[in-house]
Amino acid sequence: MKLTYLSHSCFFIETSTHRLIIDPFLSGNPLAKTKAEEVECDFVLLSHGHEDHLGDAVAIAKRTGATIIGNYETATYCSQQGANAHPMQLGGAWKFPFGRVKLTIAHHSSSIGTESGFTYMGNPAGIVISADGKTIYHAGDTGLFLDMKLIGELDRIDVALLPIGDNFTMGPEDAARAAEFVNAPLSIPMHFNTFDLIKVDPQRFVSKVKAGGREARVLAIGESIEI
Ligand code: NI
Ligand code: MN
Repeated sequence: MKLTYLSHSCFFIETSTHRLIIDPFLSGNPLAKTKAEEVECDFVLLSHGHEDHLGDAVAIAKRTGATIIGNYETATYCSQQGANAHPMQLGGAWKFPFGRVKLTIAHHSSSIGTESGFTYMGNPAGIVISADGKTIYHAGDTGLFLDMKLIGELDRIDVALLPIGDNFTMGPEDAARAAEFVNAPLSIPMHFNTFDLIKVDPQRFVSKVKAGGREARVLAIGESIEI
């Protein structure tokens, strides 16, 4: 699998058969170098309904015919906007043409702000994606929780994508603890430096993970790795 970091919590995955994008927040993202209109993919995976994750999902799905995968409320919202969508719920897994997706818990919220208040967008999730014999855990937006150990026990995680920006999610130190709990050989930080409220030095995370005997690596925006 080829994994490319597109900034914030957005990653592009190329399996041997399909192209996936996770949390495609590109329009309005000050760090993104990829335009939503340029994205060609088969599936769009969403951790939750906040606008810095839902992002361009509906526009990309409608233009490309990609299927959106997300929690029931977010997927239903997307299908009401005219996109193909596959609803799931926490703890459930489904075999897609490219591989298996399982939604995990995430301690956060999920909503869209409207003129009349917040619209509920289901439970926020982490996403475990298995394809081509490898497994990636995208933690979504979350605080640290001990059940990350269970996530690492139920599936052998090859790469953990962990939010480190603090304020809305784990900060670097808690995220390094998460890397220990998930026990993946490689952890990659996300959800930092996009906005002032989540400005942190990712090396704080990297050095703490390395001190625990595991690898961590900051991906530059647009950088790819082979898993
Ligand atoms: Ni969020
Ligand atoms: Mn977020």
